[in-house]
Amino acid sequence: MSFWRNKKVLVTGGAGFIGSYLVEDLVKEGAIVTVADNLERGKLDNLKKVSKNIIFYITDLRNYDNCLKVCKNQDLVMNLAAKVTGIEYNRTHQRDMFESNMTLQQNVLKAAWEREVQRFLQVSTACIYPNDAAVPTCENEGTRGEPEPTNSGYGWAKRMGERLAEYYAQETKMEIAMVRPFNSYGARDYYDIKTSHVIPALIRKIHIGQNPVEVWGSGNQSRVFIHARDVASGMKLVTEKYAKADPVNIGHDQDIQIRELVEKIQNIMNIHNPVFYNTKMPEGYPRRAADITKLKSVTGGFIPTVSIDEGLAESIEFFKEMLKENALLDTNLASYYGSE
Ligand SMILES: NC(=O)c1ccc[n+]([C@@H]2O[C@H](COP(=O)([O-])OP(=O)(O)OC[C@H]3O[C@@H](n4cnc5c(N)ncnc54)[C@H](O)[C@@H]3O)[C@@H](O)[C@H]2O)c1
Repeated sequence: MSFWRNKKVLVTGGAGFIGSYLVEDLVKEGAIVTVADNLERGKLDNLKKVSKNIIFYITDLRNYDNCLKVCKNQDLVMNLAAKVTGIEYNRTHQRDMFESNMTLQQNVLKAAWEREVQRFLQVSTACIYPNDAAVPTCENEGTRGEPEPTNSGYGWAKRMGERLAEYYAQETKMEIAMVRPFNSYGARDYYDIKTSHVIPALIRKIHIGQNPVEVWGSGNQSRVFIHARDVASGMKLVTEKYAKADPVNIGHDQDIQIRELVEKIQNIMNIHNPVFYNTKMPEGYPRRAADITKLKSVTGGFIPTVSIDEGLAESIEFFKEMLKENALLDTNLASYYGSE
């Protein structure tokens, strides 16, 4: 029988990008799922496939009493609620990124403990790794140096969140799982140019016909991209099998250069304007890839299943659907791309 069957599970941020895939997965496993989200960024539409099978609260988790309410009678809490944006917002709003994420992590952890929740998922990020981390990056790089400066507020908050969760694991009975996802992408991602991540920002700029397509940095920087559905599966498996307050990467070990990514998107969209690599603008980490040895070992062999070509095609299809529904928020052609 599934570990999740009939378990009462609260997913905070469950209307969001990764959260909505996780909720679908948990419903399929037979869990009794509650979602708490203030819809600041997440959308009810993301949950339309499971709307009849879940309990949903629109609630602001910066308020502690709200956290106590939604954590009541839950067996597990998976805390995905976070302030997540793109590189431009991150680098110009470090205080907000630090403070909002600290508050959300602290409130939900404490409320879960006060409500005697048995198991908790602490969601961290690969943004906690320092710029000079060895690549592929192993989990033990996460306490060395400082997070990458463009993401400093977000990265430090997530580091502090991990430490706080470790203390809870040491001093309380709550079992804690901890994950560090790498750059996620897929359908349901955000195309608002101010806060979008690299893939949606590129799809949008190429679609609009920006000429030349402006990309920050040399294009030689590389990243790993993991489909949100795979991130959700990784979160579910680590929570089930490895609640040891020990962080686990969720990502790929195969990275791709940004210039290769641009080419792939142009090919799928069949739009081939020249590309301008703006080296005056920051490009973040020079290279990023995940060491997923621990992920494979603790989950009994899990590896991401969605290929980059398949995932890009799906993302572009989703973007076109949004265009048809007139669901994009703005038409500004700003030239940054996101950090996660
Ligand atoms: N997307 C990535 O590439 C990535 C990478 C590493 C880690 N993560 C982490 O994974 C988790 C999910 O990220 P995502 O990409 O799905 O982002 P997302 O923005 O889609 O999801 C976060 C959700 O939290 C909700 N939320 C924000 N503030 C809230 C508040 N005050 N009260 C209640 N709900 C609130 C938002 O409405 C949103 O639905 C986050 O913890 C993020 O830090 C994401």
